[in-house]
This record gives sequence, structure tokens and C-alpha cells, in this order.
Amino acid sequence: MERAMKTHLKIPKMVAANFLSMLLLMDMIVSGFRFGSGVDIGLTMDYYLMSCPFAEQIVKNNVNRALQADPTLAAGLIRMHFHDCFIEGCDASVLLDSTKDNTAEKDSPANLSLRGYEVIDTAKDELEAQCPGVVSCADILAMAARDAVFWSGGPVYDIPKGRKDGRRSKIQDTINLPSPAFNASELIRMFGQHGFTAQEMVALSGAHTLGVARCSSFKPRVTAADTTADSDFLKTLSRTCSRGDNAEQAFDETRNSFDNLYYNTLLRRAGLLFSDQALFVSPRTRNIVNGYAQNQAMFFFDFQQAMVKMSALDPKDASKGEVREDCRRIN
Ligand code: HEM
Repeated sequence: MERAMKTHLKIPKMVAANFLSMLLLMDMIVSGFRFGSGVDIGLTMDYYLMSCPFAEQIVKNNVNRALQADPTLAAGLIRMHFHDCFIEGCDASVLLDSTKDNTAEKDSPANLSLRGYEVIDTAKDELEAQCPGVVSCADILAMAARDAVFWSGGPVYDIPKGRKDGRRSKIQDTINLPSPAFNASELIRMFGQHGFTAQEMVALSGAHTLGVARCSSFKPRVTAADTTADSDFLKTLSRTCSRGDNAEQAFDETRNSFDNLYYNTLLRRAGLLFSDQALFVSPRTRNIVNGYAQNQAMFFFDFQQAMVKMSALDPKDASKGEVREDCRRIN
């Protein structure tokens, strides 16, 4: 009921954002895909049209089914896609299990709280039954993240497909994931290395409208009495941490709804991670935060554009990758 009311209230904003999405989509179709190196290796919207026409629908059905059972998994899928794309490009390297000779990305401390692997596995099983050896795990993850955004009330958007799955997944590579202790300059620099502007970095950070962080990710703020945080909010964090390092705290009041409340928490100096609050502390990004806090349609528009761009980071073609049979193992 509560969700239905909220959804109802959100409709005008969603309509506006989705109208903007349509315009963007038309622009992209007319101009061809410009971003990432996806163009070079031929990522296309209708990649599976002939080889697996129901691929999109199968992924969507699996995501919807999983999120109905556990809405918190939307956050897990979106974060997993981000962690995949920032290491070795969007090639499903994050899905590979460790072997006796190799410790994989997923066993890095930065990835231990990733969630939703089984959603990808079930979608993959169904796709392998329908069209064996055709749909890559990297594409499944990118589509699942996109579907999770929409399922939670965020913008609708299409993504090009045709990524192949990588064969390398090394724990040491995850050093290139951003730290929750980063300030705005460090965040701008790291996202800049992947071709993102500061504005795109702030828009992508809006994914923190969903989900939680564990105490271990924000404890240093409590112990150091971080002055960038509101003092009452620090007490809340301290209470959460009294339940242990794995105790969870939501990023905003609506942890399963994709909205712009995350930016409003930053205005109240109640950003959960130091890196979240840093976006409001820094004059380089503060106005972007203010803009998204006031205008959800603008946030939705920029977010989906940045997500399409992120989903096309360094995709692999058939000479560098494969279509895995099992997303957890190379063929
Ligand atoms: C800007 C730099 C970023 C930093 C420093 C950062 C860091 C973190 C940390 C530390 C957590 C909590 C992990 C835990 O305690 O278990 C987290 C959660 C999350 N992150 Fe980020 N993140 C960043 C950007 C992003 C981006 C770009 C996305 C997606 C587009 C994203 C999506 C998420 C989501 C959805 C969660 C909640 C996960 C859940 O509830 O399971 N983050 N992030």
C-alpha cells in the first residue's frame, strides 16, 4: 500500500524522466553509440534478436521474481555490475569463483558483501536451456542491473549488448575500486580514469539511494568523530556499530526505492559513508548534489545516461573473451 502510494506520487516525475529517456534513446539510435569502446566491438541493442530473441525477457522475469521475494537484492545487482565494470571492464570477471591456483575478485574484502549471484545463475540456466552458448554472463549482469533500477522505481533505459566474458579475475585488481574513505578529489580522479566527468560520478553515486553499508565501512567516521557528519547522525552510526562490524545501516530512509532522497541526506549532513558526504563537502561537486536533491527527473536522466556509459566500459570481443557456460567458471 505504502509503495503503491509512493509510486503514485512519483508518476509525474517518472513520466518526465522516462520521456527524457525516450529522447535519449532516439538520439543514441540516430547517432550510433559513441561512448566507451563498445562501438568498436559492435555492441548493439538488438544483439540477440536472431540468436536468442527472448533473452531480455528471460533476464527481466528472473530479476522480477527474485526481487519480489527479496527486494533488497536490487541494490546487490546494481553494485555487482559497478564492481564488474570497474575491474577489467564489464566482462563478468566479478562472477568467477576462486580456484586452487587463483584468488578471484569476489573474494576481495571490497566484494565480500556483494549479493545476488544466484539471480544471475538462475537467469543463465534458463538462457542456456533456451539458447545454449549464446548469451554472455556480462550481458546478463548488465541487463539485470538495468532491470533492478526500474523495478525499484528508477528510470527505464535500454543498453547495448554483445559483451563477452573475460578469463581473468584476480583479487589484487580490486585495489582499483573506490574506497569509502575517499574525498571528492580522489573520487573525481578515479572515475576520471574510466572516462567519467565529476557530474557523472555524482549521478552514479546516486545508486546509494538503494541498499545498506555495514559498520566496517563507516566505523572510522565514528571513532574519529568525523566533523563532516551531523553530530546526531554520528550517534546513530555509533549505535549501529555497537551491534558489531557487520551491522547494517541504510543509505537513506527508503532503502528499496530508487529516488533522490540520497542527495537530500547529504544536504542534512547524514551521508552514510565519508565518500558520500564528501560530495556535498566539496565545492567541486556540491552544486551537482543540490541539483539532484531538488530535481529527481534530472537525476534519473543523468543516472541512466551514466549507467549506459558504465555498462559499455572496455567490453571484450570474441578474440579476448568467451560466452561462459557457467558464470562462475571459465569454459
Ligand atoms: C563513488 C564511489 C563509491 C564508493 C566509495 C562506494 C562504496 C560503497 C560501500 C563501502 C558500500 C557498502 C559496502 C558494505 O559495507 O557492505 C557500498 C554499497 C553500495 N554501493 Fe557503492 N560505492 C561507490 C559508488 C557506487 C556506484 C557507482 C554504484 C552503482 C552504480 C554503487 C552501488 C552501491 C549499492 C547499490 C550499494 C548497496 C549494496 C547492498 O545493499 O548490498 N556504488 N558502496
